Formats: sequence, C-alpha cells, structure tokens
Amino acid sequence: MDKFLIHGPTRLEGSVSNVTAKNAVLPILAACLLTEEPCVIRDVPQLEDVSTMARLLRSMGVKTELRRRTMKITAGEKVERTATYDIVRKMRASYYVLGPLLGRFGDARVSLPGGCAIGPRPVDLHLKGIAALGAEVKLEHGYIHAKGRPLRGGTMVLEGTSGPSVGATANTMMAAALARGETVIEAAACEPEVIDLANFLIAMGAKIEGHGTPVIRIKGVKRLHGADYRPIPDRVEAGTLAVAAAITHGNLEINGCEPEHLTAVIDRLRQAGATVETGKRRLVVNAERRPGPVNVATAPYPGFPTDLQAQFTALLATGLGTSVVTENVFESRFLHVLELNRMGAKIDINGRMAVIQGVERLSGAQVMASDLRASAALVLAAIAARGDTEIQRIYHLDRGYESLEKKLGDVGAKIERVSY
Ligand code: UD1
Repeated sequence: MDKFLIHGPTRLEGSVSNVTAKNAVLPILAACLLTEEPCVIRDVPQLEDVSTMARLLRSMGVKTELRRRTMKITAGEKVERTATYDIVRKMRASYYVLGPLLGRFGDARVSLPGGCAIGPRPVDLHLKGIAALGAEVKLEHGYIHAKGRPLRGGTMVLEGTSGPSVGATANTMMAAALARGETVIEAAACEPEVIDLANFLIAMGAKIEGHGTPVIRIKGVKRLHGADYRPIPDRVEAGTLAVAAAITHGNLEINGCEPEHLTAVIDRLRQAGATVETGKRRLVVNAERRPGPVNVATAPYPGFPTDLQAQFTALLATGLGTSVVTENVFESRFLHVLELNRMGAKIDINGRMAVIQGVERLSGAQVMASDLRASAALVLAAIAARGDTEIQRIYHLDRGYESLEKKLGDVGAKIERVSY
C-alpha cells in the first residue's frame, strides 16, 4: 500500500492541466457494450477506476486495447452478461453495465454493490428505470438478474428522496437506446456527465433529446454502431485544484477545464474572497488571504457538487468566522471531518450539517483517507497545514485522481509517495 508524506505549509503557483472526467468515461466505456463494432475513446485518464472498468469489461469477454490515452473497446458477439461481486464491490460504477447488457442482449446479472463509506447507496431507481422498460427484475444470491426481450419504451420518474440519480438516468438511457418505441425519463439528472453520455450514444446512432434537462426522450433504434469520442474535462478535479489554490493562498491557472460546469463552485470561491477569472477552457484562481465565512449546501447539478464538499470543508476550516456546510445528496459523507479535526480544525457535525469555526492554521498529523473525495480534502488540508502530515490508504485517491502528488508538486506542494 502507498501513503503520502506531505510537508507544509506551501503556496501553490503556476499552471496545471485538467484531465478527462472519470465520471463521464466510466459510463461511456460501459456503453461500448451496446454495439459489436469497435469504439474509440480518447484522452482516457490513468485512474484505478478506469482500469477496474476495463478489467470488468475484459472479464465479460470484451476486447480492450489501451495505447497512450486512447482506448479501443470491442464487445463482439460473445459477451458474458455477468458483473461479479469481486469487481462490483470494488467499484460501484460497475453498475453501469446493467443498462447496456439488458438493452443489447435482454439479459444482465449484476452483483448488488453493498455498503460504501459515504452512506447507504441504494439501486432502487436503477431497477425502477429498467422495470419501466418491461424488464423482469429478480434478486438471486446477491445478484440482480434482469431479463427482457424486447424492451419497450416507457415513461418513468427517476427521483429519489435526495433528488434525481445520475447512475439510474444513465443506465435507463443506455437500456432505452435499443428498446422498441419511445422512453421518457422524468426528473432525470442534468449533470454534464449525463449529457456527455447522451452525446456519445448519439454518436453511436441513438436518438436522444432533452439531455441536460429534467425530461429526456429516447426513441429506440434497432442497432448502434461504433464511435470515436473524446469525453468532457473533469469538473471535480478542476474544482479540487481551484480549492488547492485558495487554501494555500496561491495563484493557479487550470487549463483544459470547462468553467461553465463549475458555476456554483466559482461563485462560492468568490464569496470566500478569491479572485476567479474564467476563459475558454481555462480558470485562474488567486487567493491572497484567509477565506471569509461561506455557507454551502450540496445539490444535484447545477447546484454545488457533493464531490467537492469535502475539499470545500477543508478550505472553510482555515477561514474566518463560522461557515455551515450542508450535505444534501449523501447521508453520511462527513468522515473527513473527524480527520480534519485531528489536524486542528474546529468542526461540529449536526445531522447533515457541518458547523465550521475557522482556525488560522491547521497542523500536520497522521490521518487516514476514508473515500475518494475525503482523501483529496486531506491532501489539500495537509499542503496548507504547518508541519508534516502522513495520509494512509491513498488507494482511495488513486481511484479518481491521476498523480495528484505530481500535479500539485509541479506547482509548489511537497508530497512524497511512500510504499509500506
Ligand atoms: C454519481 C457519481 C458520484 C457523485 C454522485 C452525485 C459516478 C461514477 N459517480 O454517483 O461521484 O457523487 O453521482 O453527483 O458518476 N439514489 C437512490 N436510489 C438509487 C440511486 C441513487 O436513492 O437507485 C440516491 C443516492 O443514495 C444519493 C442520490 O440518489 O442519495 C444521488 O445518487 P446518484 O446520483 O445515483 O449517484 P451515483 O450515480 O451513484
């Protein structure tokens, strides 16, 4: 296993570039199951989750070839229709094979994902979506077994108690692309990654309208063909880098990002006192002093993303006055708070709310990463803290950030990766 040793405090200054979005690439790789023709996906980030998705596809008999950052995927005639527990328990996004397998073969067996550090993550909306297309869904031996041939277009509302679901919208869209007739998804997720998946499906020959709005209409087609596609930039990585600039009172230019996907984050950074300039595929964040108090409440897109809540909590922990962060999307996504408090932060949790009394400086400590975005929050806290921080279990970070230590190191952070 690897850990990080981080020496702080440091001030970040310079230019960094943004990678392609993990959360766009994962469903797009799964969508390649919808055709027997090869698909080419460009600028694929080098991440553990992407390797896991490629491994899952290969375990199903799909051919994957990675050259530099271009992945070619061919899901020929012989495809195993099962996603096993071994892989699904490692990465929930394995669930994305459910919709395409069902759409193309009328048959899919996917292990139930089980628990996760950020709270219960049910799959009821995924099942509601495919059931509305006429699939018969059974739970057997810890696996969801869905069958239905042909699937028929249907109308459904995919909203849960915490709002729309990105995963359920994506899965239903993929299954419906090859169903007979028209499907209408109401209360659909509007995230940029859902739009990107729809655009990829359209490039494969699907007929989809309304993606990016709460009502998506899909007219099923008989077959889809291969496509050559470059997914969107990673708004969570770009947001993390922007917060890194703010927490170190630094100045960073983030190239290759899409500022339009980050409006809520840019707004809160400005409220906190940072200067944020936006340009074409470029963001410049400059912060000269401690952030002012800001209240942040996570919400589905275009609201403040839950995937940047932990990083923003770390920033506000070093701010002036009292800030309140409310987590509305995932029930218990505050594990990073206990670790931040070990670094001298003053944060109280009250249900879905974190009440933060800003402190002037955090202090280095030994801490433990609990999930992907929580790990990023600890890295940001550590580069701004006085003294040395050791972060264990950074395999969580490697799932979704490509060499974060190198990217931050190139602009002034002092981070060593140590195997133990
Ligand atoms: C995706 C992202 C994740 C992000 C999340 C919310 C990927 C690989 N992951 O996760 O990084 O944090 O969107 O933006 O893209 N829910 C149900 N029933 C369901 C499905 C979801 O109640 O069947 C609930 C969830 O528990 C959660 C809310 O709906 O409270 C939103 O979850 P969802 O949008 O589905 O998240 P994911 O697609 O798993």
